[in-house]
Amino acid sequence: MNVIFLGPPGAGKGTQAQLLQQREGIPQISTGDILRAAMAAQTPLGRRAKAYVDRGDLVPDDVMIEIVKERIGQPDARRGFVLDGFPRTLGQARALDEVLTSAGRRIDVVVYFDIPDDVIVRRLTGRRVCRAAAHIYHIEFSPPRAAGRCDVDGSELFQRDDDQEETVRRRLVVYHQQTEPLVEFYRRRGVFEVLRDGDIEAVYRQLLEIIKTRAGQG
Ligand code: AP5
Repeated sequence: MNVIFLGPPGAGKGTQAQLLQQREGIPQISTGDILRAAMAAQTPLGRRAKAYVDRGDLVPDDVMIEIVKERIGQPDARRGFVLDGFPRTLGQARALDEVLTSAGRRIDVVVYFDIPDDVIVRRLTGRRVCRAAAHIYHIEFSPPRAAGRCDVDGSELFQRDDDQEETVRRRLVVYHQQTEPLVEFYRRRGVFEVLRDGDIEAVYRQLLEIIKTRAGQG
């Protein structure tokens, strides 16, 4: 299955993509995680991306398209993937179509996380992630067993710089302007599914149902 997760920052895309990876073995391709790893290692990509990410703006399309093209060609992604955070502009969506078509592949389903802005602000300002592998927690909705430590690998939990409220609000503006048009782009294609919000496990059950139904149709 080739899956796209579409939705605002903090909607729960990464949380659900990590569950799908752990439980169903479908690789998560998070462009945000790729950029943060490059920024931490201070690679040329990381240095270029940092100013955009810190402001809450999008990194230019040409950079992002190259990253994803390379990543979906890797062996683990050949049998399927979940794209978490890509595409985010119409330019990225069209480029993805070209890359997949030329490889004889296609998107099987676009799953839309439709979450209102006030809920997003609460989710992002309370989010914590682990240093070792970006496992995701929330101080209220999904706390770790031991305060400040990742349940999976024991590494320290921290707050992302771009999860400060001012930057979250900028990311929401950017989302509504540049990414939301993709809802109509994909809705017209017959691959579009909307998730109802609920707690993390309830959302996961819906997601699995959608993916299994689509896989049965493929
Ligand atoms: P990125 O890392 O992709 O950030 P994002 O899209 O803003 O998404 P998030 O990771 O913030 O949220 P999420 O939906 O994964 O939510 P999560 O599961 O963590 O991008 C960061 C930056 O990189 C961008 O601003 C941009 O600069 C750049 N970038 C990345 N991709 C790019 C691209 N393609 N083009 C250009 N630039 C790009 O959940 C959030 C919180 O809510 C957590 O605390 C979680 O525990 C909690 N939670 C999750 N689900 C639930 C639930 N059902 N109920 C209650 N709480 C929940």
